[in-house]
Amino acid sequence: MQVTKEKDRLVVPNRPVIPFIEGDGIGKEITPHVRRIVDAAVDRSYSGKRKITWQEVLAGEKAFNEVGTWLPVETLEAFRTHLIGIKGPLTTPVGEGIRSLNVALRQELDLYVCLRPVRWFKGVATPLLHPDKVRVAIFRENTEDIYAGIEWAAGTPELKKVLTFLREEMSVTKIRFPETSSLGVKPVSVEGTERLVRAAIQYALQHRLPSVTLVHKGNIMKFTEGGFKKWGYALAEREFPDHTFTEHTFNRVKEERGLEAAVEAYNRAVTSGKVFIKDVIADAFLQNTLLKPEEYSVIATLNLNGDYISDQLAAMVGGIGIAPGANINYQTGHAIFEATHGTAPDIVGAGKANPCSMLLSGVMMLEYMGWEEAGGRITASLESLFSQGYATADLARFMEEGKELSTSEFSSKVIENL
Ligand code: NAI
Repeated sequence: MQVTKEKDRLVVPNRPVIPFIEGDGIGKEITPHVRRIVDAAVDRSYSGKRKITWQEVLAGEKAFNEVGTWLPVETLEAFRTHLIGIKGPLTTPVGEGIRSLNVALRQELDLYVCLRPVRWFKGVATPLLHPDKVRVAIFRENTEDIYAGIEWAAGTPELKKVLTFLREEMSVTKIRFPETSSLGVKPVSVEGTERLVRAAIQYALQHRLPSVTLVHKGNIMKFTEGGFKKWGYALAEREFPDHTFTEHTFNRVKEERGLEAAVEAYNRAVTSGKVFIKDVIADAFLQNTLLKPEEYSVIATLNLNGDYISDQLAAMVGGIGIAPGANINYQTGHAIFEATHGTAPDIVGAGKANPCSMLLSGVMMLEYMGWEEAGGRITASLESLFSQGYATADLARFMEEGKELSTSEFSSKVIENL
């Protein structure tokens, strides 16, 4: 049975086919356990009424060795057909036509949101005094920005052509060292911004979260990142007038009727369950995440900012190695949930691989499918194990009373505790 999208709703049958990419390196060691744990959680939650039918699809080194290509068309077709899938880490091909398999998958399915939820698990070592205050969901735009890959290398004929155009037709005089500069283009569109911010607001509403913060550098890059901020606010006010209260409105009320009236309007809005839409400059945001992380809940940001922010926040809760992630197109329903780390060639075969990044991505997948109970069981099991000091080597060695377990021992304990 296929997962399908009907109007705004995902329709998930009781026995959906879910394609999975095992992954290279430690992918082989973690993926079977992740499937085993997800199956057990689903079985316990729905007494056999629901069950995932896993369908292996090939990508990466395994695909290259078996069928001679890094990303077979059948794999893309399977993800296209079944909407939802999960993947282990993939070796990046060196000197091949494809720059990165992850990027290829994202582009093929136009997965425009990179979603990274960040939270702390009690017991996990962190550099913060109050890691429990960090609980954010990062919505990173996945298809635009300086990451779009539109660039020309210094000294090439293409670069000369672009430079001539900029100088002669656009009167650009600000390139400091034109003869030796490489150039890149940063596209940021209304549509790209709106679909990202819309997804972030809908997520906040669904999960009853208090705010969505637009993180940008619009003070410097006025039309691109400034556009992101402007279009983001406009979308909130146009599409969610009854469910959001924006910083814009707050400032307008303050100007017209004074601070007290603005605070009163804000309090009325948040107590009635409206989501507060605000913005912050990216550098101030990074400071604030350390100084007052409790002020942030859902983050909507551009591609490059989102890349930095995801790793900083994950590191703050000690979870860089176990952070989950997903790439999603909320319009078509397509979503690929993934381990966010690489293939860890240095520990392959040592029984040390931590399955939690992929496992927590599996939890995100279950939530996306509406199978929250199964996801909740896995999260609760991990909470319990970490708080007792049980973990794989990467985490156990930093825990106060860490009890190191191998990949399979840890996975079995997760199942026992479901
Ligand atoms: P990596 O993430 O594979 O490893 C960095 C360090 O973290 C290593 O010391 C490794 O042992 C450790 N580590 C990573 N995952 C772990 C886990 N689950 N449990 C315990 N320890 C873990 O990054 P690296 O070495 O830069 O890349 C290796 C390969 O992976 C490259 O081919 C790279 O292109 C690819 N890669 C793929 C990604 C993906 O498919 N999403 C993401 C990042 C890298």
